[in-house]
Amino acid sequence: MSPPAPPAPRAPPVSPTRVAVIGAGTMGHGIAYIAAMAGCHVRLTDARPESLPQAMEKIEGLLAGGLKRGKLMEADAASLRGRLRTAAALGEAAGDADVVIEAIVEDLTAKQQLFVEVERAAPTGALLASNTSSLSIGQIASVMTQPARLVGMHFFNPVHVMKLVEVVTHGPDSLPEAERAVELAKKLGKEPIVVRDSPGFASSRLGVVLGLEAMRMLEQGVASAEDIDKAMELGYNHPMGPLKLSDQIGLDVRLAIAEYLHATLGRSQYEPPRILREKVKKGELGRKSGKGFYTWSD
Ligand code: NAI
Repeated sequence: MSPPAPPAPRAPPVSPTRVAVIGAGTMGHGIAYIAAMAGCHVRLTDARPESLPQAMEKIEGLLAGGLKRGKLMEADAASLRGRLRTAAALGEAAGDADVVIEAIVEDLTAKQQLFVEVERAAPTGALLASNTSSLSIGQIASVMTQPARLVGMHFFNPVHVMKLVEVVTHGPDSLPEAERAVELAKKLGKEPIVVRDSPGFASSRLGVVLGLEAMRMLEQGVASAEDIDKAMELGYNHPMGPLKLSDQIGLDVRLAIAEYLHATLGRSQYEPPRILREKVKKGELGRKSGKGFYTWSD
C-alpha cells in the first residue's frame, strides 16, 4: 500500500492590497472608490482637510447611485465603507501602503515635493504611481532617491465609469513597476495600455487638440457649444462632445495640460484659447463649479 499523499501545500493567505490615495478631488475620490470596490483597503488623504468630508460625500453619492441601479447590495456598500478611511496626514495614509496613487494638483513642483515625502513615508516595496494627465513621469521622479519606483497610472474621469488606464513607463528600469501597475489596473477592473513617457501620453496629446479647437470654434462663432458637441457626437460617434468633456474634466485642469503641452511640444495647436483662460479666471471650472461651457446642476 502506498503511503498517504502529503497534504497539498496551503497557499499563503492573500491579504487585501492597501492603497493610499493622495489628493481627494475629482480623481482621488473616484480612485479611492474603485479601489475599495475591488476589495482593497483604502486610505484617502488631502492637504486641505475640508476636501475629505466632501470626497466621502461624493463616494456616498456613488454608492447611492449603485444601490439605486441595483448594481450594489446594501451589504456591499457597508463592507466598502469598512475598507475606506480618510487620513489626516500623508504618513498615516502611506505608512503601511502596498500602493500609493497620487492625484493632487497638476503642478510639477507640487508633485515632485510630494513624491520626495512619499518615498520617505511609504514602505520600500510599495508601488508608487502618479495620476498626472500630462506631466513627465521621468521629471516628477527625477527628485526621488529611486526614480525607477515611480510609474504613471493615468485614470480617466469619471473613474468608476471609464475603463482606460494609461500605465506610463520611463526607461527600462521602470518596467517591473509598470508590470505591477498593469496588474493593479486589471484588479481594479480597468483596461491598461502601456505608454512611453512623452508629453500628453497617448490620450491627452490627441484629446486636448480636439478640445482646444472646439473652444476656438466657439470663440469664432462657428456654432453654439451644444452644436459643436453634437457634430462630434452624431457625426463622429464620440460618446460626448469635446466641450462637454472639457467641462467634465475641469477647465483649470484642461488649461494646465494645454500650457504644459504647448511649452513641451511647442506646437500652436496646444496654445490655450482666450475663452479658456477667461473662464478659469472667473472660476467657471466646468461641472465641479456648476458652470463652464454648460451650466451644471449636480
Ligand atoms: P482636483 O483639483 O479636483 O483635486 C486635487 C486635490 O489635491 C485637491 O483636493 C487638493 O486640495 C489636493 N492637493 C493639492 N496639493 C496637494 C498636496 N501637496 N498634498 C495632498 N493633497 C493635495 O484635481 P483633479 O481633477 O482630481 O486632478 C488631480 C490629478 O489628476 C491631476 O494631476 C490631473 O491632471 C489628473 N487627472 C485629472 C483628470 C480630470 O478629468 N480631472 C483626468 C485624469 C487625470
